[in-house]
Amino acid sequence: MTLTLDKQVALYEEIAELKKQRKAIMLAHYYQDGAIQEIAEITGDSLKLAREAAKVTDPVIVFCGVHFMAETAKILNPKKTVLLPDLTAGCSLADSCPAPALKKFQDELRAQGIRFQTVTYINSTAAVKALSDWIVTSSNAREIIDRVPKDCQILFTPDQHLGRFLMEETKRPFILWKGSCMVHEVFSVVDMIRLKKQNPQSVTIAHPECPQNMLQVSDFVGGTEAMLKFVGGKPNPTTFNVATEVNMIWQFEKRFPQHTFVPVPGIACACNACPHMAKNTLENIRNCLRDMTPEIGWAPEFNQAEAVIRRSLL
Ligand code: 13P
Ligand code: SF4
Repeated sequence: MTLTLDKQVALYEEIAELKKQRKAIMLAHYYQDGAIQEIAEITGDSLKLAREAAKVTDPVIVFCGVHFMAETAKILNPKKTVLLPDLTAGCSLADSCPAPALKKFQDELRAQGIRFQTVTYINSTAAVKALSDWIVTSSNAREIIDRVPKDCQILFTPDQHLGRFLMEETKRPFILWKGSCMVHEVFSVVDMIRLKKQNPQSVTIAHPECPQNMLQVSDFVGGTEAMLKFVGGKPNPTTFNVATEVNMIWQFEKRFPQHTFVPVPGIACACNACPHMAKNTLENIRNCLRDMTPEIGWAPEFNQAEAVIRRSLL
């Protein structure tokens, strides 16, 4: 975010005043710009944000994240106003699994007599969630997979990399949907190995949305909340090479100033910022609170998605 400090302070004041007027609460994912995380009442990973959204008592939620996250918050709060500063803030994982294509594939598996349950990563549309038996995040996936009966195959959508990682962890066969995160897929494994070589004492941590070749050379694999817990467990000053969205560094540095965090670069660029998360800015947060739009509306598939989300995440 390239704002002058004066402009940033002025926007902070406007947003604080509007939050009071609207009785609004701000939730922000760890992949949001630090200037946004700074003024959110709640920051978290996908699981924490979904759980916190279910507990909100304020009538208005400003969701600083991407569309599927705000949609989940709305599904859990049908009567509240859920604002997303930019409605086009999508997700390449959610886009990679359109509901009609999933339905067709499920019908084909059933026609072949295959007994399966569909386990879907939260990074998906409500229509896809409605077609699923379970929703997982990087934080609760192991626990949910244990709930799938042993005589059922697991159709895992939409993230092939997280799916493969879980398949190895749980030693159960998965049918993998071939989606991926555009941010985690472009980390340079060569640069990652170079960072490790330059500092052999460093510790490399990676998100399970990264491809297998990255995970194989990492010291720790976990979602954003798990990474925070892992780093928090290291008392001595340590250098961490971080293979996840670059704004996560802000949260690490704020909580653990004794450590050093080095972002693993992408193949074609120095940074790894999610272009969808980057659509939320202090300006459009101010605007959405001022104008009470764009808002997530209710859609018919939300009813079925709600049941799946509640039994999986709450
Ligand atoms: P978590 O924060 O749940 O690990 O999710 C990462 C992500 O890619 C969110 O879009
Ligand atoms: Fe989607 Fe990847 Fe962006 Fe997360 S970082 S919102 S998974 S595109």
